[in-house]
Amino acid sequence: MGMFDGKTVLITGGNRNTGLYITEKFYREGAQVFMCGSTPDSTAAGVEKLEKMGVSGIRAIPCDVSDLSQVRAMFDIIEKEAGKLDILVNNAAHQGIGKPFVEMDPEYVMEVLGVNVRGGFQVTQQAVNRFFLKQESKGVVVFLSSNTAQRAIRNRTAYCASKGAINSMVKALALDLGPLGIRINACAPGYIYTERWDTLPEEKKSRRRLNCPLRHEASGGDIANVVAFLASDASSNMTGEIITCDAGCSCQHMPEDVDC
Ligand SMILES: NC(=O)c1ccc[n+]([C@@H]2O[C@H](COP(=O)([O-])OP(=O)(O)OC[C@H]3O[C@@H](n4cnc5c(N)ncnc54)[C@H](OP(=O)(O)O)[C@@H]3O)[C@@H](O)[C@H]2O)c1
Repeated sequence: MGMFDGKTVLITGGNRNTGLYITEKFYREGAQVFMCGSTPDSTAAGVEKLEKMGVSGIRAIPCDVSDLSQVRAMFDIIEKEAGKLDILVNNAAHQGIGKPFVEMDPEYVMEVLGVNVRGGFQVTQQAVNRFFLKQESKGVVVFLSSNTAQRAIRNRTAYCASKGAINSMVKALALDLGPLGIRINACAPGYIYTERWDTLPEEKKSRRRLNCPLRHEASGGDIANVVAFLASDASSNMTGEIITCDAGCSCQHMPEDVDC
């Protein structure tokens, strides 16, 4: 028996990196899985990767979550094909990498917030209004936040701000939706091994690992396990929580390689 037998889940950004492992987790635990990438090509590439991981039968729908008309169209498909939704995982993110504050075009800030904040908001609103409020099983939402909402990283102003906004949105939604039986929580990862790590020199990987009290970044599977816990009845009395999963990084005042 799987943890999510009989459940229907939507995972945004389920086509790449951490999202692939979240998709795999729900599939292996028995859920009917819908996922989206931002474009037809990236979504189809995700399906190919999943098939190589032994994950088949995933319903992949291209959807730019920052575009309300595309979000509505994705929910039309879920309504037609599944007729219900039990779990939403807001994993899609714009990483907002490589723009120092002094050079950052305000339009770029809106682009990052458009995916991470507006995207999470409007996908959640569709899930709640179109499914959760009408169903006996009221539904669960898990956001992917980041430990950078609390302790910032350099040259990522828009991204850090978006993750702080997600944490506040999780708490606000918990208040509004808790009385309706809908739970909203977040997992806040630190370092996760993704395809971006494949391009890093070994020395940089080692320094990052030394800066983790557990001496290792998370795998996609580590994050998927936390997401699954927050989506399951094992967390049935939790809402409005931000669960950090960062190998202990946010416990420390100074990373080990500069500590004295
Ligand atoms: N990696 C880390 O170390 C780390 C640390 C802390 C928190 N997190 C958070 O954990 C989550 C997963 O991280 P990750 O590193 O695996 O992410 P990632 O590699 O940057 O992948 C982002 C995913 O979001 C999708 N996406 C981006 N813009 C979209 C849009 N407009 N509409 C729909 N989908 C969109 C991407 O789809 P496309 O393929 O179509 O672009 C991709 O599947 C994110 O929320 C991230 O912020 C990650």
